Amino acid sequence: MTTAADDFDRWIRNDFVALNTLLEEAHFAAEGRIPDDRPELATARRRIGREGAELVGRITDVGALHVLPTKDDERYELLGSVGLYLGACRRHEIEGPQSAAWPLAQLLASSLGVVPRFVFAHQALYNRAVGDTFRTFTSLADERAFILYNGLSVLAYQRTAAALRRVPALGVSSPLTAYLLREARSGLEDVLDLGRTLSKTLDVDRFFLNIRPYFKAHRVGGVEYRGVNAGDFAAINTIDVLLGLCSPYDPFYQALLTEKYPYMPPEDQATLRATVTAEPLLDAFVRETAASPLTPQLRDNAELFLAVCRLHGAASAFHHHRLVVPFLQAPAARAPQEQESGTADLTTSGPPLHVVMGTLARLVDLRTARQRPETNGGARPALDRLRQALDAAPPAHL
Ligand code: HEM
Repeated sequence: MTTAADDFDRWIRNDFVALNTLLEEAHFAAEGRIPDDRPELATARRRIGREGAELVGRITDVGALHVLPTKDDERYELLGSVGLYLGACRRHEIEGPQSAAWPLAQLLASSLGVVPRFVFAHQALYNRAVGDTFRTFTSLADERAFILYNGLSVLAYQRTAAALRRVPALGVSSPLTAYLLREARSGLEDVLDLGRTLSKTLDVDRFFLNIRPYFKAHRVGGVEYRGVNAGDFAAINTIDVLLGLCSPYDPFYQALLTEKYPYMPPEDQATLRATVTAEPLLDAFVRETAASPLTPQLRDNAELFLAVCRLHGAASAFHHHRLVVPFLQAPAARAPQEQESGTADLTTSGPPLHVVMGTLARLVDLRTARQRPETNGGARPALDRLRQALDAAPPAHL
């Protein structure tokens, strides 16, 4: 990193955090309103805008461009820091100075093939800790908990996806596949446990008033980019598609995949591209259990596979009913200022909240294989066929 980038990194990890925290404590005490009778808050907002612009400006000074990091992961990390600054400007409605950061954001983003803004991966997985502390907007315990349990959930999803990805090369009746399916099951059990911990640890009002507002959509140059979404990683879709619960041929699901590519890190984009051509494991299990006598290993693997599918559905339902509803939908219904702004700011992807809730509910239905007319039953008929094949042939030891 250059000296100018180091200075900016130091500021992002120290003064920036202190200034945002001061503002957030004031917002929280005023129940989400911006107190206009406290000059120190106006000074804090001005300092965020001005100091950030000055430090980013030094990185992009003519003559300094040639020292931008040559490694992709370092440029991605720098984009995350610039994005933190832009996200805070959007949150505190600081207009003007933040445009000084647009050229650097655009330069870094175009060199990486990603959007020129802060995304979830910057916060969770490409966030180098210094002295035990990863980059955050504030020093609020709730922000740390939100990022920590989100990030750990993504690691658990990635562990599950990595295991499932190896199954096609081994076949669904291999004894090695049993090991991989147990690994996938354990990863999803972790996702559920982490979600439960998050739901117990996170304070609803803190999340709604002090954390969520940093994730809003904002402009870089002439373009508006949608906000931070914890779903912007490939593993969740690898699991959906490899299990056979969602299909990249389903126009509804295809639209979700297409939209998220530039919001994911470059290597996730490559992973997602590879996933969409894989044969779903559900198809392989249905085919093999129908064609051959039900061998003990195939039966064990099929039972494990069905358990993995059930857990994936359960984790998705938990996200919907125990995270999105209580932490977003319920407080939004109570927040008069959000109602006035038409709830457009509530969702990261832009559509009104009820539309996003509808999309998330449809994903839950797909992952839990709930029958719905527009999906032609989704995976339910194939899952039922597999269940019937297992029930029709009693286990060898009976
Ligand atoms: C308080 C906690 C959380 C809230 C309020 C929340 C809310 C949301 C919302 C509103 C969306 C839709 C975004 C949009 O289109 O505007 C979303 C998407 C998503 N979130 Fe969360 N989320 C939370 C925690 C988590 C955690 C811990 C994970 C685990 C990795 C997660 C994974 C996802 C995924 C994968 C998506 C994309 C849609 C999908 O594929 O299901 N979220 N979340």
